[in-house]
Amino acid sequence: MSFNTFGRLFRFTSFGESHGAAIGCVVDGCPPRIPVTAEEIQVELDKRRPGQSRFTTQRQEPDAVKIMSGVFTDEATGRQVTTGTPIMLLIENVDQRSKDYSDIKDKYRPGHAHYVYDVKYGLFDYRGGGRASARETAARVAAGAIARKIVPGLTVRAALVQMGPHKIDRSRWDWDEVGKNPFFCPDPVQAKFFETYLDGIRKSGSSIGAVIEVVAEGVPAGLGAPVYGKLDADLASALMGINAVKAVEIGDGMAVAELRGEDNADEMQMGNDGKPLFLSNHAGGILGGIATGQPIVARFAVKPTSSILTPRKTVDRYGNNTEVVTKGRHDPCVGIRAVPIAEAMVACVLADHYLMHRAQVDDALPWPFAKPGV
Ligand SMILES: Cc1cc2nc3c(=O)[nH]c(=O)nc-3n(C[C@H](O)[C@H](O)[C@H](O)COP(=O)(O)O)c2cc1C
Repeated sequence: MSFNTFGRLFRFTSFGESHGAAIGCVVDGCPPRIPVTAEEIQVELDKRRPGQSRFTTQRQEPDAVKIMSGVFTDEATGRQVTTGTPIMLLIENVDQRSKDYSDIKDKYRPGHAHYVYDVKYGLFDYRGGGRASARETAARVAAGAIARKIVPGLTVRAALVQMGPHKIDRSRWDWDEVGKNPFFCPDPVQAKFFETYLDGIRKSGSSIGAVIEVVAEGVPAGLGAPVYGKLDADLASALMGINAVKAVEIGDGMAVAELRGEDNADEMQMGNDGKPLFLSNHAGGILGGIATGQPIVARFAVKPTSSILTPRKTVDRYGNNTEVVTKGRHDPCVGIRAVPIAEAMVACVLADHYLMHRAQVDDALPWPFAKPGV
């Protein structure tokens, strides 16, 4: 089962499955002398960690990360830094409960990956979904914690902006609220409502979808690439590659279909700092595959968890009609824990593009250009 490596210059290869001994990744291509500690990576992993509230799976994984290679103490500063060699990040699995899955090991869960893995590879590690489990995304979050440090001045933040049909009120958006409720929701009023709403969904043995918005600030104008290396295409691919994601949009996304040209194109004026000032950001910070210097805004939809207590019609791997009910421990809204995963994937894409940019072009082009002959 190939395709375990992400990125071009900033690359990571993840390994492990839901109920195996450990998961993790090897980050390759990280520049040397970047300060990094296990504690900093742990901060990001703790945001994604299961079992932190009644609104996520009750699997109790500490997700404690160990840096196994690729770091050394910088004598000049006394800090631990990257050496430029492969960085192996290891997270042991400690709370596997594989017997939860033995009753349904031959039945395909509608909406899950079991059938397609079986049809393609002839086997599926049914214990917690094996390699198709979102447990693998802990490796992405760990790699993302390193990626965040590569682009100077970069901030990547994400928030849950819709659960089921219920959207947040954007006039109440407060980034400080995101860390204060179990939903990563920037609207404190809607976060309160989500408690009752998701309790109802959970207690009825069901699940629900969500929309997440990611905003990257401090992305320098010029980062990105044209044609087959477009930054928006890479971001869309990275976000779509997260488990259960079914749609991605950049900037105004699907809503541009309803706009006229004069409403959609972001007008420009010279700002006081000698840089252009965009009067709006319908483009989501990217034109022609290259960053404009405005915040990069992406949004994506996550489907409702397929593992539910409501019986569903299905077939088994021997070709018989049957029914399946998924017990075990599951997230009633997988969109919640997708928030830190999305931040990590966006950070990895931006780190990769930063290194490609540095490899190809002169970083200090004197814009605005002097007019010839003046
Ligand atoms: C954070 C997170 C947690 C998830 N937990 C579950 C889960 O508990 N049960 C489940 O059926 N799917 C869960 N999923 C989704 C499955 O991993 C995913 O639907 C499955 O692998 C099929 O792939 P696809 O939905 O991308 O097509 C989770 C996804 C994310 C992002």
